[in-house]
Amino acid sequence: MLPCGWQLARNGRQRAGSGLIAMEVSQASHQIIADLLCERTGQHLTENRRWRVATALASVFRQHGISNADQLVCLLGQPRRRSGDRDLATEVVEALLNNETYFFRDKPTFDQIPDAILPELADRRKTTKRLSIWCAGCSTGQEVHSLAMLFEDQKARWDGWTIDILGTDVSHKVIQTARSGLYSQFEVQRGLGVAQMLTHFEETPDGWQIHDHVRRITRFQQHDVLSLPPTSRAFDLILCRNVLLYFDAETRQRAFTRLENALADDGCLMLGAGETVVGQTRSLSPISGRTSLYAKRGASHDERAPALTH
Ligand SMILES: C[S@@+](CC[C@H](N)C(=O)[O-])C[C@H]1O[C@@H](n2cnc3c(N)ncnc32)[C@H](O)[C@@H]1O
Repeated sequence: MLPCGWQLARNGRQRAGSGLIAMEVSQASHQIIADLLCERTGQHLTENRRWRVATALASVFRQHGISNADQLVCLLGQPRRRSGDRDLATEVVEALLNNETYFFRDKPTFDQIPDAILPELADRRKTTKRLSIWCAGCSTGQEVHSLAMLFEDQKARWDGWTIDILGTDVSHKVIQTARSGLYSQFEVQRGLGVAQMLTHFEETPDGWQIHDHVRRITRFQQHDVLSLPPTSRAFDLILCRNVLLYFDAETRQRAFTRLENALADDGCLMLGAGETVVGQTRSLSPISGRTSLYAKRGASHDERAPALTH
């Protein structure tokens, strides 16, 4: 019997190999950790991704002197020792999330935004001169900052406009990084050319700091895409890329309902390359001639802009 009271398979072995700790995670511990992740984020950690758990949790193990996943599960079952303790469960969940991102990710798809979406939105919103954009699951902010750079590059075009780009993520940790606007040399080189780095960032001893004039139209907030939308105001453009991949079908449908409710009737939704609304929801449909772009079914798009017609 383990001290935590959970019956666990005793195969949480640890062995050294090429400087890394390779650890097998028992089926029972995997299930408990997967349930925690799913409850907090909707993300499914399927059995075939069990290998990922030990690698993803290596720094949590190191930091807390935990030697295997079974011990971690025991600790998760205990009440927090001091009220000021950082919540171990939150650390585990955040470590398991896939935060992969980079500037101007999937460029051919992203380029549709400056080439087609923004010109059309500019036309549609020319009286209000307001644009609201939401990046749901924005990770460390590269997607939001890529959008902000587009506006900064066309400063004269957007003069007098109120542009609001909201980045949200279920992970508090990545939102903190996104807010800081500070990136390592490695991060800043992923997706950005030298000219963009020098135009929009300043090199500091701590890394590359994005300029305030780019950041001023951005804001970040911790938020679960499965909960009510972050504001009551409808968004003209929503990016939710590479977030829905690890949801199961039912959870993905819930996410689509949330996204659809947050989208303006004539707005559009951009998903990641491996994601689609087809067969997942009846309320959104692909925009013809476009890649990874979707609109509300039956939304009346401007006839002068056939690119956004269903
Ligand atoms: C692979 S990253 C994608 C980042 C960015 N959208 C891109 O495509 O480069 C997925 C992000 O979704 C976030 N995420 C996962 N589940 C979420 C949820 N339920 N609500 C909001 N964000 C979530 C993760 O924390 C992670 O930062």
